[in-house]
Amino acid sequence: MNIIDIINKKRNNQELSYEELEYVVNSYLNNQIKDYQMSSLLMAITINGMSDDETINLTNIMLNSGDILDLSEINGVVVDKHSTGGVGDKTTLVLAPLVSACGVTIAKMSGRGLGHTGGTIDKLEAINNFQVDIPNDDFVKQVNDINVALISQKGNLVPADKKIYALRDVTGTTSSIPLIASSIMSKKLASGADKILIDVKVGNGALINNIEDARRLAKLMVKIGNQNNKETICILTNMEEPLGYAIGNGVEVMESINFLKGESAEDLYVLTTSLAAIMVSIGKNINIKEALAEVIEKLKNGEAYQKFLEMVKYQKGNIDDIHISSKVHSIKSNKDGYVNKIDSLKIGNLVKQLGGGRTNKEDLINHGVGIVLNKKVGDFVFENEELVKVYYGDKDVKIKDILDCFSIDIVNEDKKPLIYEVFK
Ligand code: URA
Repeated sequence: MNIIDIINKKRNNQELSYEELEYVVNSYLNNQIKDYQMSSLLMAITINGMSDDETINLTNIMLNSGDILDLSEINGVVVDKHSTGGVGDKTTLVLAPLVSACGVTIAKMSGRGLGHTGGTIDKLEAINNFQVDIPNDDFVKQVNDINVALISQKGNLVPADKKIYALRDVTGTTSSIPLIASSIMSKKLASGADKILIDVKVGNGALINNIEDARRLAKLMVKIGNQNNKETICILTNMEEPLGYAIGNGVEVMESINFLKGESAEDLYVLTTSLAAIMVSIGKNINIKEALAEVIEKLKNGEAYQKFLEMVKYQKGNIDDIHISSKVHSIKSNKDGYVNKIDSLKIGNLVKQLGGGRTNKEDLINHGVGIVLNKKVGDFVFENEELVKVYYGDKDVKIKDILDCFSIDIVNEDKKPLIYEVFK
């Protein structure tokens, strides 16, 4: 077998066999296929696509490229949640304790941010001393003791995705549906959960911009999950504006704490309670209405917040010391009108520019910087009223660049729904 024949085959829009895909993945991992050859194949896949069978085969080959976690020592049904990546998406921070407080086990491995989107692990590390790198036995013990743990992805889980994803990130091939499906599902299947919920973000600021592509991705991931005997649900949600008010690691932790204490932006509340209700419903085999009632009760009675504190303490974090910069300035609107759009991609990139995100995996980040919105889409803002607060460190952003993120008009445009569709 040789890589040039395989690239030509995909360039001519033909299906690759299991053996050919296996050869590609293993040879790339062993450095026998070079980055430039793999880039060329990834671009041919991005342009010509893959059949469902090819995507399922690629997922299984990637899944078997490294360790597969065995969570059988964990009591109860483990439900996992994944987001395809958004701006201000702090749902995992609040979902994990909330769903756990409802009696469903959360043993979750999360990632760091890359590009304009944030990552749960970077957010957790904004809590002073919070430990994310935990040995397997301690991870299992924590989950059996308190029913929740959020840790970083460890060991040799899907090394093929690690290498291929890094290459996709710099070769314009991140938006390919079969490549996204195989990347996400190989990791979800390798991390050992019994049931999987995936939040597929759609819109500016997400990897997928249109609803048709999001539907195709969702159907494909559900099919892959079901073929591997894991109940899988995909929920398509709006990423046309940042989720909640805060964007940046420390400020998002603060917003999550306020959420668990009962104070929340409407979109964050609706999305989190909906995701939590689905997780509780599949985790406990109860109907969605019953699950939602339980979720709302655990938020109201403070048990979800107590569970968050318990998790932070178990993972040695100091809840009284959250990294948030003391250098703040306020940016005001230069006109009256309704906020019709907030460009989440631009806002995410500005937070990265402040030092809150990384361009390369090894970059150090400043957990204390961020942007906190004072207005969401649909709100009216007066000239000279505050639009955002900027928490800055060594680097700052220009006022004009912030103002460019907002479309403000005297006519109030219709707001798109937050949740589009659910696939299972
Ligand atoms: N998240 C992933 O893990 N992989 C992708 O390809 C896209 C989002």
